[in-house]
Amino acid sequence: MPFPDSDVTVADSLKMLHFLFAADIAPTQVAAIIIEPVQGEGGFRVAPTALLKELRQICDEHGIKLIADEVQSGFARTGKMFGIEHSGVEPDLVSVAKSLGGGLPISGVIGRADLMDSVPPGGLGGTYAGAPLACAAALAVLDVIEEDNLLDRANAMGDRLRARIEGWHKRTDLLPVSMPRGLGAMIAFDILESHGSTEQRAGAAGKLCTLACEKGLILLACGVKGATIRILTPLTASDALLDEGLDLIEQILSEAAKA
Ligand SMILES: Cc1ncc(COP(=O)(O)O)c(C=O)c1O
Repeated sequence: MPFPDSDVTVADSLKMLHFLFAADIAPTQVAAIIIEPVQGEGGFRVAPTALLKELRQICDEHGIKLIADEVQSGFARTGKMFGIEHSGVEPDLVSVAKSLGGGLPISGVIGRADLMDSVPPGGLGGTYAGAPLACAAALAVLDVIEEDNLLDRANAMGDRLRARIEGWHKRTDLLPVSMPRGLGAMIAFDILESHGSTEQRAGAAGKLCTLACEKGLILLACGVKGATIRILTPLTASDALLDEGLDLIEQILSEAAKA
């Protein structure tokens, strides 16, 4: 389904879903609809609440399970424990990983008891399922999220990131960048074709990541055009460390503008 964006409305997305139901698969044959509340690889695009609410209704109507993929947006990153909480919509299942382990490899599925308990003991398995070290790390992560108030920290970090990116957006001596996008500390910006344009500069983010790496800063690109830089600083990083990274990005945007 096309994800809502500048040129795709919620109505367009839903129209396509109904088209799929009519032309390809009857809704009674659909087991689940999976959506990222905030897209990760897709460019940190936030799923509009109206879309999530409508999907919930469609799922309820046809007995389809709604799955929130929170692998990237989960565990405080968006300023709430899970990204979908911003919409008030309750999914049936939630997939989790990444931040849950604080660096150790762990993933999981959270769901309504009736669904989770429908699997017999041993029915949900895997080679590394229940790996004790990763489970201990995940339990520690949950403690740190609570003890260090990482939900508040994600929001404060997001405000800091947004303010800085908004400043870059206004400057004509830097590589042209968009306004920030995202929720909480899950923030991204696009490299644009020119100042004042909204056209993304295809492939520009990868080049910026390479330049950042040379300066000792790890950045990640995303988005279908490879023009988006996503900032995924650990929520436990200090403001000083965050600012050091942002200063480096600004330096790179300045050097790239002159190149
Ligand atoms: C939103 C999202 N879902 C799923 C995955 C895949 O997760 P895994 O590597 O655990 O299969 C990723 C990986 O980057 C992701 O970002």
